[in-house]
Amino acid sequence: MRRIHPDIEDDPDLVAAYAQPPGEWLRINMVASADGGAWLKGLSGGLSSEGDRRIFGILRGLSDVILVGAATVRTEGYGPARPRQSWRALRVGRPAAPPVAVVTRRLDLDLGSPLFTETEPYARTIVITTESAPADRRAEAAKNADVIVAGEHRVDLTLAARELRDRGLATILCEGGPRLNAQLAAAGLVDELCLTVSPLLIAGDAARILNGTASQTRLALTQVLQEEGFLFCRYVREVSDELAG
Ligand SMILES: NC(=O)c1ccc[n+]([C@@H]2O[C@H](COP(=O)([O-])OP(=O)(O)OC[C@H]3O[C@@H](n4cnc5c(N)ncnc54)[C@H](OP(=O)(O)O)[C@@H]3O)[C@@H](O)[C@H]2O)c1
Repeated sequence: MRRIHPDIEDDPDLVAAYAQPPGEWLRINMVASADGGAWLKGLSGGLSSEGDRRIFGILRGLSDVILVGAATVRTEGYGPARPRQSWRALRVGRPAAPPVAVVTRRLDLDLGSPLFTETEPYARTIVITTESAPADRRAEAAKNADVIVAGEHRVDLTLAARELRDRGLATILCEGGPRLNAQLAAAGLVDELCLTVSPLLIAGDAARILNGTASQTRLALTQVLQEEGFLFCRYVREVSDELAG
């Protein structure tokens, strides 16, 4: 791994490279093809690399909670984030692993899967849903997960973020997918984007990394790392110069 912006450094300390300010912060982490596609054959794995997975793990270790859309949970087969030896130093004073928080209206999730049945008490999966979600599914989910109701027909993401932070989960890592990302941006909740650009052209009908209502968030490019043709870009929201939505 080599840093090529803002300075040049071989083998930079990745934990320091991705340190975030103290307090509330929401970062999105995504990988895209060079032509902007967010999945290959329906999954993100074909766009990724060993370096991307390394950074993915570090970002998880640095987060209080992993936020994810239900479609990503279903397609990527999400399980709980398991504690890693390498996270020990990153998580002093915090639980050994962050919980996963799933945004869903329909609650069409496999509630018998490890994401719900194999969590540690300190990192029970959180289901963020709506008042209109099927009551029986909500009751079923509550057996093995913490359920947050935030909104009537759609999850109000501002309210959802508030609820997570009220639980002491200040630093939110959103791992997609694109439909959830677009709503976070539209709500003005995105502080940072970590974007891996994969050296691959794919065309096809994959969505971009934000897919939904138009919005504008001005970003500053704060860091670029490079490895095997992959670019690892870190963008932080330019707070002083926001564009109107
Ligand atoms: N390139 C990458 O880094 C990356 C990362 C993640 C995912 N992906 C790919 O992206 C695809 C999935 O992403 P996606 O954009 O289609 O979906 P998504 O954002 O993962 O999930 C969409 C689902 O989340 C729930 N949801 C989102 N906003 C909601 C709201 N405001 N209120 C209630 N529920 C809400 C709904 O779930 P219900 O249907 O359950 O109601 C909705 O169907 C997969 O192919 C995955 O492989 C790529």
